[in-house]
Amino acid sequence: METIQSKVDELITQMSPAEKAGQLTQYFYFRLPADAGPALDFDADAQPKSVESALRAGAAGSLLFVTDPAEINRLQRLAIEGNRLGIPVLFGFDVIHGLRTIFPVPIAMAASWDPDTIERGQSVAAREARAVGIHWTFAPMVDIARDPRWGRIIEGAGEDPYLGAAVAAAQVRGFQGGELGAPDHVIAGPKHFAGYGAALGGRDYDEVNLSDSELWNVYFPPFEAAVAAGAGNVMTAYMDLNGVPASSSRWLFTEVLRDTWGFEGFVVSDANAVRSLVTHGFATDLSDAAARAVNAGMDLEMAVSDPAYRHLPEALESGAASPQAMDASVRRVLQAKVRMGLFDAPYVDEDRAREVLADPAHRDVARIAAERSAVLLRNEGELLPLDAGSVSSIAVIGPLADSKRDILGPWVFDVDLDETVTVLEGIRARAGDGVRVDHARGVRVVQREFPSMFDMFGGNRPEDPEGFDEDAEFQHAVELARGADVAVVVAGEWQNMIGEAASRSSLELPGRQLELLQAVVETGTSVVLLVMNGRPLDLRWPVEHVPAILDIWYPGTQGGTAVANLLFGDVTPGGKLPFSWPRTVGQVPMVYAHTRSHEPANQARRYWDEASTPLFPFGYGLSYGRFEYADLAVDHPVISTTDTVTVSVKVTNTADREADEVVQLYIHQRTGSASRPVRELKGFRRVTLLARESRTVQFRVGPSERRYWNAAVQDWVTDSSTFDVWVGGDSTAQLSTRFEVTDADQPA
Ligand code: BGC
Repeated sequence: METIQSKVDELITQMSPAEKAGQLTQYFYFRLPADAGPALDFDADAQPKSVESALRAGAAGSLLFVTDPAEINRLQRLAIEGNRLGIPVLFGFDVIHGLRTIFPVPIAMAASWDPDTIERGQSVAAREARAVGIHWTFAPMVDIARDPRWGRIIEGAGEDPYLGAAVAAAQVRGFQGGELGAPDHVIAGPKHFAGYGAALGGRDYDEVNLSDSELWNVYFPPFEAAVAAGAGNVMTAYMDLNGVPASSSRWLFTEVLRDTWGFEGFVVSDANAVRSLVTHGFATDLSDAAARAVNAGMDLEMAVSDPAYRHLPEALESGAASPQAMDASVRRVLQAKVRMGLFDAPYVDEDRAREVLADPAHRDVARIAAERSAVLLRNEGELLPLDAGSVSSIAVIGPLADSKRDILGPWVFDVDLDETVTVLEGIRARAGDGVRVDHARGVRVVQREFPSMFDMFGGNRPEDPEGFDEDAEFQHAVELARGADVAVVVAGEWQNMIGEAASRSSLELPGRQLELLQAVVETGTSVVLLVMNGRPLDLRWPVEHVPAILDIWYPGTQGGTAVANLLFGDVTPGGKLPFSWPRTVGQVPMVYAHTRSHEPANQARRYWDEASTPLFPFGYGLSYGRFEYADLAVDHPVISTTDTVTVSVKVTNTADREADEVVQLYIHQRTGSASRPVRELKGFRRVTLLARESRTVQFRVGPSERRYWNAAVQDWVTDSSTFDVWVGGDSTAQLSTRFEVTDADQPA
């Protein structure tokens, strides 16, 4: 059997520089409304035609944004027939949280703290994607995000490198299966390498300045974990990192990614990021941009139109581009095509695609994921779960309550709205005929001050129903609430307010939603607030006045059913926050893993006008169960720097219903060759405990949990020190123990 290597080498020896450049070029291919063109800076009409002629000329190696299997087959045929070597095209797409079956948004999946749920979800997404002919997803986004003004916080796993690494690896496993090329799976492309989440002021695309210590200790670990899990691709980032465009960084793509972590896949630029090396004021022209990118180790250029890599032959000719670097890139791209079986089976079975997309089992996986990712933020007087037997009327309030588009969240395109269940629909179905369920929108939708390119996609821009009279609706909503046993208010951000190009200068509930909530609370009816969000919002007032608050995120296709199951107690919420929830925007960035400082006693009083603690800490989430922690112990109180300690704790569910708890372990290194964070997550496990069940949970804390990159010595260190350990249900856990790490070998 021909090996991958020799097949690829044989192709490369036959290729001209222009053919090689073609293999390194990926084009967007989409049909957008004519008015989308100017916003995206391309000609919406001409773009598909020019891509087709590139395919016919063998000048395109990959396409993105095609999801219709018949179209994929047609374009594939153009490509294969168009290049003399018959090299097929690799189809990529942003399968971020599902293709047809939409899962909760990534930050919500992270809030499940359940790698199995996450892996299962992305494996369904991969199955749907592969069935329609997509070979590769531009996901997971593994950027650490510590500033919720940045809209893309929704696409990642939040603030913490340890949780982020676990979530990243689970997603790669889900997308790719056991190995690259596994049937029903796609190539995973962790992005955006690196540091994109730290944009100045939370403003998307703005520059990022991160110390080496932050990169190695905080921003890199999820990438390293994704690479270790076998990710076949990595995408670069748009912005300048420490003054150099991240998309031209040899240090990132070659020294860190390949030489240090052993990454063997291919690197793709973010959209137009090679072209924009010119825009950044870095490269002199497209030819220079292409040469610098390819020399740095950027394999494939993603381009909306007019790719810089078109200039690679001339850059080779002038000696600016390295022929070895270019061949290495072509080799990596071709290897991916061979591994994905493209040479053997370039076309997709359209009938099978229809069957796979219609698979009802996918919807079940999505519902369970939505149930597992909700976070119960407050439940005074145990208002939740609602007792279906004693509630006879429910008022469901808010414009997001019955919005099929919004419940899906951003980054979805080919959605099936008919099978999407809104919160209102879910509650109606679950409550049954005996319960009266009324709905009022209450307030009008809010429009962005500055629309983004995503608003151009059909249905993405929210609209009020025709003839909407806000004052009358507001009154109607309040009256419904007054007359009901329970009012369920759904409030948050419309889906186009979060995601890429959706940074915000405030964290308040947009529009008059808070006012509506206040008026509903004023009626005296019991209120449950469901927060629909992908970033923390300013909930200071609700936390004081609304007895029950459930964060449902954007829960996806089956969101309404999942939410109803949670409200009525068919399932118990068990999600936990993957970020510290600030009180107000003025506190951001806010992280739990800060260092002690010279004044730790005043940590909560850094501002004179507002507590400097979060509204809800990292890792927080309530349950209908109740958990007690006891018997925290380490197996060896003194170990050497190369040893591992086992920490065990007994967790008891004292309630009389089954519930999940996410048991979390934090450590703190007291002294050493650097100041270390007051707490760092170093272990977690989501466990299901029956009513009154106790379970002993164990964690191992070894050298890899204790090592960190040290700015003083510019290297990794594992210090001797006393380590405090806390285990509990969030990052403020009080139950603690400690162990010593010494240089001297201790008897086991
Ligand atoms: C985003 C990427 C995405 C790409 C293709 C870019 O604007 O930054 O995350 O994968 O578009 O849609």
